[in-house]
Amino acid sequence: MTDIAGLQNELEGQSPRAILKAAFAKYDNIAISFSGAEDVALIELAHRLTDNLQVFSLDTGRLHAETYEFFEKVRNHYGINIQFLFPDAEEVEDLVTRKGMFSFYEDGHSECCGIRKVNPLRRKLSTLDAWITGQRKDQSPGTRNDVPVVQIDDAFSTEDKQLVKFNPLANWSSKEVWDYIRMSEVPFNELHNKGFVSIGCQPCTRPILPGQHEREGRWWWEEATQKECGLHAGNIIAND
Ligand code: ADX
Ligand code: SF4
Repeated sequence: MTDIAGLQNELEGQSPRAILKAAFAKYDNIAISFSGAEDVALIELAHRLTDNLQVFSLDTGRLHAETYEFFEKVRNHYGINIQFLFPDAEEVEDLVTRKGMFSFYEDGHSECCGIRKVNPLRRKLSTLDAWITGQRKDQSPGTRNDVPVVQIDDAFSTEDKQLVKFNPLANWSSKEVWDYIRMSEVPFNELHNKGFVSIGCQPCTRPILPGQHEREGRWWWEEATQKECGLHAGNIIAND
């Protein structure tokens, strides 16, 4: 079993490219989890490092039209397949039949995120040895201050399998990501031209005003310390 604490020490000060290179050297069965936002920087970095690039995305059914258009742009630009994971139809039908289309404004986002994001993610992660995310420390002062560049994913490891999670952009600021995107002439989601910074599902994402933190555009009706949808539940556990 890989010494993840040792690997974290070794990689902590390194560049996103070096972290991705180490991730691909250690794991064949590894994939990028792509949200359709500025984490496209990961795809730009990674497609130069491996011929076996696996990318997946969780299609909640509630994404913006611009995000779907962007997925197509990325597929064509890089000539890659993106695996789209859908929620279980019966679970969605049951939720919206009982509670309607906007229950998250009433009783919080965890039930809907559980069905539309976390369950499909668990299904995908059960097939992988490691995954790669675009999480950064500066994305959420409430929950992501301590995101390491590599960690054991306690939230999705099972008795049979220890799942490893790489966060190569953890130490990059938003500005560094955007400098890289502009410098490399990478395509980006049209919503970024409309005042959106952090992008998730349409009903739970809004543009921000000057001076607001990017996380204020997500689940704005909820407490900052709870703004994790379950994909990165370990961040909340770690902050308790
Ligand atoms: S979230 O948990 O609050 O929605 P955020 O939007 O900050 O996450 O994105 C952080 C990282 O989580 C992304 O870079 C990506 O790796 C992963 N992620 C978020 N949403 C999705 C999605 N719909 N599909 C795949 N990965 C996602
Ligand atoms: Fe549902 Fe909103 Fe979570 Fe998307 S972000 S899965 S719409 S609660």
